[in-house]
Amino acid sequence: MARINTNPKLVAIFIIYFFMTSQVFTHGQQVPCLFFFGASLTDNGNNNMLNTVLKSNYPPYGIDFSAGPTGRFSNGKNTPDFIAQLLGFNNPIPPFATATGPAIVKGVNYASAGAGILDNTSRALGERISMNRQLSNHQITISGLSSLLGPSTQVQDYLNKCLYIVEIGSNDYVNNYIQPQNYPETASLTPDQFAALLIQQYTTQLNALYNSGARKVAIYGVPPVGCIPQVRAMFPPNASGCVDYVNNYAQLFNNRLKPLVDNLNANLTGAKFTYINMHGILISILASLSTFVSGTPCCAVSSAGVCVPNQAPCINRALYVFFDNYHTTEIINSFVAARVYISVSATDAYPFDLKNLAQQ
Ligand SMILES: *[C@@H]1O[C@H](CO)[C@@H](O)[C@H](O)[C@H]1NC(C)=O
Ligand SMILES: *[C@@H]1O[C@H](CO)[C@@H](O)[C@H](O)[C@H]1NC(C)=O
Ligand SMILES: *[C@@H]1O[C@H](CO)[C@@H](O)[C@H](O)[C@H]1NC(C)=O
Repeated sequence: MARINTNPKLVAIFIIYFFMTSQVFTHGQQVPCLFFFGASLTDNGNNNMLNTVLKSNYPPYGIDFSAGPTGRFSNGKNTPDFIAQLLGFNNPIPPFATATGPAIVKGVNYASAGAGILDNTSRALGERISMNRQLSNHQITISGLSSLLGPSTQVQDYLNKCLYIVEIGSNDYVNNYIQPQNYPETASLTPDQFAALLIQQYTTQLNALYNSGARKVAIYGVPPVGCIPQVRAMFPPNASGCVDYVNNYAQLFNNRLKPLVDNLNANLTGAKFTYINMHGILISILASLSTFVSGTPCCAVSSAGVCVPNQAPCINRALYVFFDNYHTTEIINSFVAARVYISVSATDAYPFDLKNLAQQ
């Protein structure tokens, strides 16, 4: 007789998963528009036309996605797709690379795989749209909105009501600081000096975002990048199963984000910045999924850590943590999005989760 898995935790997880992946999960849009800035966990097609190894617009990416391979680094939906759904949007937010006309009114996704707070981050991998360039692209969107929505005061009022999500910083560690041979310009900085440099640049960038009309802004901390297969292949992992020093370096950056949020909210009139503790959220989710495969990715990967084109991935994708050597599977993305939207632990978000931020 076939053995049926009746582990109640797993059953509950699958019920949440099917609920979230079904189209039934839509209700009124909670904000008029949603803008994403960030790197590959957020990218949904902005790198497709760039000269870089960090692309995902080919199979097996998108094997579980209705539109097939699109430039999402996942087998199916990515976290922004689930977040847009949870906020009541009927469609995903389009990538800047292809968003045109009235489509931009509901928001744009500027994220680019490899992008960093520092312009040079991921230079060794090819072209990418850095955080600074994403902010310039946002100015192009704002000009476009003026012709759709009218005078600039009206556009500013509209932009004030939107939600902004920023997922940046991972590459500044993985594809910059921990590779001193490729990035001599940061090699001489101590971990603390490097975190301070990132925060200094990021502060300027977030002030620029505010000055472009953003008020409700969620900034994601760096996830435990010392645990991804690509980093575990670069350095010997510790007893934790992760490369502890990489996580510890990234935590020096994360630890400065709460004070940064307090500072921005105190300095900038009407600002509602919030910090999302991606490190804690992921560690907690992964601890509850001990039966999932987390040591190896689902697809066959190249030395760059992305899927080799056209090779069949693993069959049981709903039981894998990583699709390629960097990026999580659709099922993990659904759990992360649910917890970013509504906090489970008091340490998940500070001071607001996304649902709460939308209501501010
Ligand atoms: C960026 O990299 C170039 C080399 O490609 C280097 O000349 C430049 O100083 C770096 N910029 C910064 C800000 O480190
Ligand atoms: C992790 O592993 C490295 C390399 O083996 C070692 O130098 C370091 O002390 C270890 N760290 C901890 C916290 O055990
Ligand atoms: C807040 O304002 C103070 C005083 O002008 C400034 O030193 C600080 O850098 C500002 N903080 C942020 C996060 O912009």
